[in-house]
Amino acid sequence: MISVSDIRSRDIRFHYDLTTAFYRLLWGQHIHHGLWEPEHGQVTGDSPLAAQIHLINTLATKASISAGQRVLDVGCGMGGSSIHLARERNCEVTGITLSPVQKAWATTSAAFSGVRRRTRFRRADAERIEFPAGQFDVVWSVECTEHLFDKPAFFRKAATWLKPGGRMAICAWLAGEKSDTPDGLQQVRQVCENFLCPSLGSEVDYVDWMTAGGLEMIEVADWTDQVLATWEICERRVRRTGMRWLAKLVDRNTRNFLDHFETILNAYRSRAMGYGCFVARKP
Ligand SMILES: C[S@@+](CC[C@H](N)C(=O)[O-])C[C@H]1O[C@@H](n2cnc3c(N)ncnc32)[C@H](O)[C@@H]1O
Repeated sequence: MISVSDIRSRDIRFHYDLTTAFYRLLWGQHIHHGLWEPEHGQVTGDSPLAAQIHLINTLATKASISAGQRVLDVGCGMGGSSIHLARERNCEVTGITLSPVQKAWATTSAAFSGVRRRTRFRRADAERIEFPAGQFDVVWSVECTEHLFDKPAFFRKAATWLKPGGRMAICAWLAGEKSDTPDGLQQVRQVCENFLCPSLGSEVDYVDWMTAGGLEMIEVADWTDQVLATWEICERRVRRTGMRWLAKLVDRNTRNFLDHFETILNAYRSRAMGYGCFVARKP
């Protein structure tokens, strides 16, 4: 795991409070990568939204999510996954986010999407919240665990929230296989600092944390090549619009975020970073 020291939880909350509207304009309701399938060695030309939905559907299928199941969406953002799982798979979803702005946004979107009764959003810190044991069929988290400070403790606790037979489904930015070179380490540190991640775990770390919680791995997949078009598209969109200028009026973290899309793209290309999908089952 690669860690940086000067990130605070309130900076993360403040970042999402401030930038939710930016994310919505730039990338839509889902604040996560798209997943593009390779075709003849090239990724296909699906739209970013189609690729994001493909990521969610692929993860949901690997985690065998089906009608009536209770899902906890950890780091639910604007409710993209929660609303999709409630609407398309008839699940009962609880979403938690650090950001009160996102909580309000997700609640309103769920109402407009006709799934108000099947979703519930709370402003809560995943590292502090408690749920009774065996509450959920699925603990789902797409691109939130990067922001957690004590990742092993979170996975130990989250495993207790699952019913026997329940699944944990995670997508996460990773410290990649080349993160131990001086250049690689510097790239990962830059990503952590500018995208407010206290640390990035490796693929092996995630497997260790999930199995230490008593879970059995079902799937470990490296999706790096299939997601990196995300940043090429975001970088083009930021260049073509006045978003960088708008961000100058907001705050330093938002500016840093928009200025470092190339950093993350280079880190993926050099394999200093990776992108992983993990699904595990509670016996
Ligand atoms: C990159 S966004 C992903 C949002 C959502 N999963 C999606 O895919 O659209 C990261 C999310 O993690 C949430 N988050 C970060 N740290 C958290 C924590 N300690 N507890 C709860 N949510 C957290 C943020 O508020 C934000 O909603």
